[in-house]
Amino acid sequence: MTWTAEALETLTVDPLKAAHYRSGTRSPGRHIRVDDTVPKFRAIDQSILIGGDAARALSLLPAESVQTVVTSPPYWSLRDYRVDDQIGCNDSLQAYLDSIVDAFDELQRVLRGDGTVWLNVGDSYTSGNRRYRAPDRKNRARAMSVRPPTPQGLKPKDLIGVPWRLAFALQDAGWWLRSETIWHKPNAHPESVRDRPTKAHETLFLLSREQDYYYNVDAVKGPRGRRLRTVWEIPTEPVKRTNYHPDDHPAMMPISLARRCVSITSRPGSVVLDPYAGAGTTLLAASELGRKWVGIELKSSFVDLIEQRMGCSDAGRTQGGA
Ligand SMILES: C[S@@+](CC[C@H](N)C(=O)[O-])C[C@H]1O[C@@H](n2cnc3c(N)ncnc32)[C@H](O)[C@@H]1O
Repeated sequence: MTWTAEALETLTVDPLKAAHYRSGTRSPGRHIRVDDTVPKFRAIDQSILIGGDAARALSLLPAESVQTVVTSPPYWSLRDYRVDDQIGCNDSLQAYLDSIVDAFDELQRVLRGDGTVWLNVGDSYTSGNRRYRAPDRKNRARAMSVRPPTPQGLKPKDLIGVPWRLAFALQDAGWWLRSETIWHKPNAHPESVRDRPTKAHETLFLLSREQDYYYNVDAVKGPRGRRLRTVWEIPTEPVKRTNYHPDDHPAMMPISLARRCVSITSRPGSVVLDPYAGAGTTLLAASELGRKWVGIELKSSFVDLIEQRMGCSDAGRTQGGA
């Protein structure tokens, strides 16, 4: 059975028994699941999980329907998710940046005027045109058998500056770049390299659609009750094997990071979106905090994983703190 957008909008959901829909099947939870071929949604009345490509799926969402986005696209040349149409693996650096900027064009339409985006992006190094990656014995999560060619103008071993290249491209596309936060990982993986410091941070940008936007400065306080600073110390969380799904996700953000972002730039009841949802950490944080959510993820086994995590969360919703 295929669900049309009209049907999806008029579904009466029994919150206790059934509520997500996958090719006509139901399982526990309070959201609906569709793929990116359904007709456009006229409104976001309940949480939605879409399996498919980010830009395509974003075009299904109504204009000005989303309050905030918390997202972490694949990092360029660091990981092969082994799925067609993925970004960041076989594409050139420029093609990767263009894909995200294109998806963000759709985001600009989908965001409310006072909406924002938290964008977490990691950096990477050039390979010097080595097309393979020697396994990093100290960081097995870096599993990628092929590497894209070195971008023009860069040298072997150069740090590429991907986050800032992306930030400038988004600024050129009309976004307001409002903040750079350093996510410091006190438990960062050791690295095998001996000619530079070991990397222990990632970048988190705050972007807005307009000059003024919703930002609750009191939602989350820093140490000693002071306003949040731009360095956040948040340990990575170990990937839990077997709890949810055999194909656990290799690049999940800590839920406390997602909770913090959701709390600051959205109100209870508003819509939180992650167009590169991975294992659904943003969606889980949004659900805990009483927000509606929309998740988009390309790889169907990760969509299954999200459903399993959300099924548990939707069934026993709790209020979480940041
Ligand atoms: C870094 S992970 C996101 C992890 C997520 N923040 C979490 O904590 O679970 C990026 C995800 O983007 C997905 N992806 C890759 N290309 C995509 C595309 N074109 N459209 C949508 N998702 C895509 C990958 O499958 C991967 O799961």
